[in-house]
Amino acid sequence: MKSVGVAILGLGVVGSGTYRILTEHREFYRRTQGIDISVESVLEINRQRAIDLGVEESKVSDNIAEVVSNPNVDIVVEVIGGVEPAKSFVLAALHSGKTVITSNKELFCKYWFELEKAAKRTHAGLYYEASCVGGVPIIRTLIDGMQANVVRSLTGIINGTTNYILTRMAREGLGYAEVLKDAQALGYAEKNPTADVEGFDAAYKLSILASLAFHTKVPLDKIYREGITEISRADIAYGEELGYVLKLLAIGKCDAEDKIEVRVHPAFIRKDHPLASVNDSFNAVFLQGDSVGDIMLYGRGAGALPTGSAIVSDIIYAATHTDHKYATFKNTQLPEKGVRFVTDFSSRYYIRFTAHDRAGVLAKVAGIFAKYNISIVDFIQKGEDIDRTQKEDLGGNIPIILITHKTSEFSVRRAVEKISALEDVAQVNSVIRVEG
Ligand code: HSE
Repeated sequence: MKSVGVAILGLGVVGSGTYRILTEHREFYRRTQGIDISVESVLEINRQRAIDLGVEESKVSDNIAEVVSNPNVDIVVEVIGGVEPAKSFVLAALHSGKTVITSNKELFCKYWFELEKAAKRTHAGLYYEASCVGGVPIIRTLIDGMQANVVRSLTGIINGTTNYILTRMAREGLGYAEVLKDAQALGYAEKNPTADVEGFDAAYKLSILASLAFHTKVPLDKIYREGITEISRADIAYGEELGYVLKLLAIGKCDAEDKIEVRVHPAFIRKDHPLASVNDSFNAVFLQGDSVGDIMLYGRGAGALPTGSAIVSDIIYAATHTDHKYATFKNTQLPEKGVRFVTDFSSRYYIRFTAHDRAGVLAKVAGIFAKYNISIVDFIQKGEDIDRTQKEDLGGNIPIILITHKTSEFSVRRAVEKISALEDVAQVNSVIRVEG
């Protein structure tokens, strides 16, 4: 039976989950996969943490050179996160000819080319299923399941923290700050929640997923990004009234002329869209392939065992394949020639503004929309039916909510600027894209 030695760099949540899966399922993998996987080394400064988990003391190290030069180690699992020291450790492992498995989306999306070059030089494997959408096997689906298809679009809820926050805001009518505090107390959101709530985490993952889906490098800086910090419970409630659910979406589209659109932002989707029922900290990715049609993958995007599951699936894949597979596209630092990135994308828009309750206001707003060729599909004006307190808070103004037909981002921005400048408009409160 083939023996495979693994080193785990970092015994945090994911490292510990990976260790647990490997040790508890060792016999199962011997029987079902025909390989004996043992943890031969662990890089962990907190020795006691490793020992408490059941790691033999002689296998705990705080020296990366010792780990990557260990002849019993074939595969190095990097679950430290962030760019440094993870990058130096991964490169050290690849230079030593060890296959690397990483859950590190930031490192991978920023340095994919460099890491792959190092892996190819020593014929080492480089696997990253756990970097995107935790336990959901989206990377292998794109590489090994969808390869017959031209993928034209990918839409995902790929950040669990923000999905948890938005779900609770919608269900319980709570404000963003209140739910964020709960999410932090429950360990969903970090003490510094920026990476999740400002959409960086989703953008890292989208850069990787869109590169695989569209067979060209999709650099991080081409992704339009907006987070959820400005979302109010009022918008969620008005959206609900109009038949929509609000989600932080990661969207990738590629048309027949290789024009690529990549964006992460809050968006309304219709209640009957398959992604609308993805709630709490769950993740899902909705793909459209030209042959297969629609596909949706759903599951846990984070956590010790779900992410550990993705890592162990990579370990088994790497251990059972002799030729390692690299990116499905010519991985360079830049996108393929001919690929263009769209900045003025099209969408439908939800626009909420507060105006004086006076004759002629709507006519002026409609005039501005007409000037920019924006047509309105749905409309709510709150008059007598808003409660008194709310009316007083608005200083006697009334909220007006519009949904537009599909139109260009730039036209909407220009129209919104003009509407904000109208004397009768107190404020444009929110502009939210409507997808699907
Ligand atoms: N912080 C991420 C999320 C998990 O909330 O989905 C790991 O990517």
